Amino acid sequence: TPAHRIAVIPGDGIGTEVVPEGLRVLEAAAARFDIPLRFESFDFACWPYYERHGGMLPPDWRERLMGFEAIYFGAVGWPEKIPDHISLWGSLLQFRRVFDQYVNVRPARLMPGLRSPLVRRDGTPRQPGEIDMLIVRENTEGEYSSIGGRMFEGTERELVVQETVMTRHGVDRVLRFAFEQARRRRGRLTSATKSNGISISMPYWDERVRAMAAQYPDVSVDQFHIDILTAHFVQRPEHFDVVVASNLFGDILSDLGPACCGTIGIAPSANLNPERRFPSLFEPVHGSAPDIAGRGIANPIGQIWSGALLLDFLGYRAAHDAIVRAIEAVLDPASGGPRTPDMGGTARTTDVGRAVAEALRTGV
Ligand code: NAD
Ligand code: IPM
Ligand code: MN
Repeated sequence: TPAHRIAVIPGDGIGTEVVPEGLRVLEAAAARFDIPLRFESFDFACWPYYERHGGMLPPDWRERLMGFEAIYFGAVGWPEKIPDHISLWGSLLQFRRVFDQYVNVRPARLMPGLRSPLVRRDGTPRQPGEIDMLIVRENTEGEYSSIGGRMFEGTERELVVQETVMTRHGVDRVLRFAFEQARRRRGRLTSATKSNGISISMPYWDERVRAMAAQYPDVSVDQFHIDILTAHFVQRPEHFDVVVASNLFGDILSDLGPACCGTIGIAPSANLNPERRFPSLFEPVHGSAPDIAGRGIANPIGQIWSGALLLDFLGYRAAHDAIVRAIEAVLDPASGGPRTPDMGGTARTTDVGRAVAEALRTGV
């Protein structure tokens, strides 16, 4: 069989520190499960590239990445040097849109050995697995749009408009994906809305949810306005199975969900073009973390778990499961495995990466 071609883009900040650990584990998985993977690294989509070339991407980036099945991405953004909207709209958001990665799948699960900051009303902590949700985020339209503009700049009449875009095609396809996931999981789907205040786009979203729900009588559906939904995440996170949300609401919930599970440093994501017409992109949920970059203490588990999602997407379910089990084995308090500071330890990025790769090799 020909090797799967994977483009590697480390990006900025801790992206460059966690990607090598993710690759270490992907290589260990490839060896154990005999998966032919071929990696090719790219130095664009980061501040150093911008500094040299005056742009985030080369003009032919699309052709150069098109032949890959997947992109294994770190994080981008270095706000001290370049405004975030320029670096992000010049790289990651281009990938998502031009490669039509319309679903962003972001699991949030309370792992063994990690403590949720949320205790129950009776004061008892939550057990591993008690929080287990899949956030399905719309990834190519919604509130993230480049339609709008400024007028009358510098005057008292200065005016700024930014449109939200929802298409039936765009909303329905992400909803269908989410309902299918719910059907395969615990059969519950929660929709994030704000149709009381956002009076045109969000009622439309709700309407499409109702239409799709009619096709999935086996899935139980509820919906909450985003404000109270954030409160429910904190007060009863175990309620949630699949949570489907527009681009912005999904972005917010996918930091909140993992934070409820102890740290955003372990949270993975898959930016999927499910039809495989374009490469899909796998990256941790977190960003480049300039506040800890360069110190070798970033948690690599979000990156490693994203590698597991990549293998699952390529059809290697057993390899995915083995990586997740290796992560759990390292986190298990009984193993005394290394933990980075965000998980309450003093270990370094490479210690955790090596431990997961080793657990994978020895086949837990
Ligand atoms: P961030 O996720 O980079 O960091 C938020 C906080 O979480 C920081 O205190 C950071 O130290 C901590 N943190 C994040 N990942 C961690 C890890 N793996 N281990 C330990 N601690 C971790 O979010 P931010 O500070 O809002 O953004 C920083 C930059 O990253 C900005 O330029 C932003 O636009 C960009 N960003 C990029 C992506 C992406 O590439 N997908 C995602 C989010 C933010
Ligand atoms: C994410 C990030 C990006 C987003 C930013 C960096 C544009 O926060 O992947 O969650 O908002 O989608
Ligand atoms: Mn985000």
